Amino acid sequence: MKNAPVKNVFTRFAGLSITELAAKHGTPVFLYDQEIIEKRVSELQQFDAIRYAQKACSNLAILALMKKLGVVVDAVSAGEVFRAMKAGFKPEGEPPGILFTADLFDADAVEIIRTHRIPVNVGSPDMITQLGKFCPGALVTLRLNPGFGHGHSRKTNTGGEWSKHGIWHAQLEECLRLGREAGVKIHGLHMHIGSGTDFEHLSEVCDAMVSAARRGGPQIDVISAGGGLPIPYHKEEPRIDVGAYFHLWDKARKQIEKDLGHAVRLEVEPGRYLVAESSALVTQIRSIKKTGDNLFYLVDAGFDTLVRPAMYGSYHDISICPADGREISNSQEVVVAGPLCESGDVFTQEEGGVVVTRLLPEAQVGDYLVLHDTGAYGAAMSSNYNTRKLAKEVLISNGSDEVIRERQSLEHILQFERIPARFL
Ligand code: LLP
Repeated sequence: MKNAPVKNVFTRFAGLSITELAAKHGTPVFLYDQEIIEKRVSELQQFDAIRYAQKACSNLAILALMKKLGVVVDAVSAGEVFRAMKAGFKPEGEPPGILFTADLFDADAVEIIRTHRIPVNVGSPDMITQLGKFCPGALVTLRLNPGFGHGHSRKTNTGGEWSKHGIWHAQLEECLRLGREAGVKIHGLHMHIGSGTDFEHLSEVCDAMVSAARRGGPQIDVISAGGGLPIPYHKEEPRIDVGAYFHLWDKARKQIEKDLGHAVRLEVEPGRYLVAESSALVTQIRSIKKTGDNLFYLVDAGFDTLVRPAMYGSYHDISICPADGREISNSQEVVVAGPLCESGDVFTQEEGGVVVTRLLPEAQVGDYLVLHDTGAYGAAMSSNYNTRKLAKEVLISNGSDEVIRERQSLEHILQFERIPARFL
């Protein structure tokens, strides 16, 4: 009797053969499916502005695609403002093409904001006074911490007393006064309470926004729901009901319009939702070894390539793509780990660094292992730890693949390091 095909065998991505893509581009490689990004953007069209939180994936090609789709952008550093401008975004306009969000200005940020008059979503009262000095008349929104938060892990919860983010809700009036004194135009309110928002908390946030807008008064003409829209990393999880999410915020916006007597723009600021599912990280199994009772698949991507499992215990679906196209009929419990010289370099782990096994198809050295939903905070959070090159990124649309970031070279990694002459 023939065994039923095992689950988690995955051979094609965006219509193309993974083995062919891996042979052509090498591994590890982040593949992106343009169609998925387009679909996610279209799902949020009800909002007046979709402001992409580019920290999730700031590759220039992805930014340029967002621009083509009519999306505006959030930038959290001078570097992200620079990228946005390189991708064709302009800071001016209604809504502004670029918005800078941070809790402080570093020297680079001061320079780029002053030069290009970038509107700012301020996260601390000090920023208002400082901005008034280096960019008089600047357009400002206030990022408020409503006093509570929610996140998929403690590291992504962005509200409450222990969060470093935003302006404490009780200081709203003080900030309005600081704004008048500094000569900047405070015209909007923003709340991002954490990544992984669920609906229980959402109506609380919406209520907090309505009461803050009342306190803000007629000068408020834009509110932002922030980001945090979740995606189903576990395939059995339900998708967020985007219609219901919009409806809650729209209700809050309408209440605010009624209270203030004028139109109010409603923005949303997702990162993960727009890009997470668009990408898979393809890596090759280079060794399979048994350690006591555990079987390890050792792959050529590590937490330098994808840090989410090591940093947050995040779950990513994993599949196997057999390199020789054979049919796999058995699965086994395995640990998936990378090449770094650090025991935490494991993709199958839970929060707190607990290593767990995953039921995966029987693989051979040379097969490819696919980590799914890596488009958000994948390439964007990768590093050169262990002096490993940043992975290649490839965008696929209509059956053709284009390199959107070349694999880094070792020369490139070392280019800014200097050996003092006395050591030579
Ligand atoms: N807006 C603000 C002000 C934010 O701080 C963030 C995320 C977003 C929007 C976008 O959140 P998203 O829609 O992508 O959940 N590295 C973590 C996530 C950190 C999020 C930081 N701020 C991860 O890999 O899950």
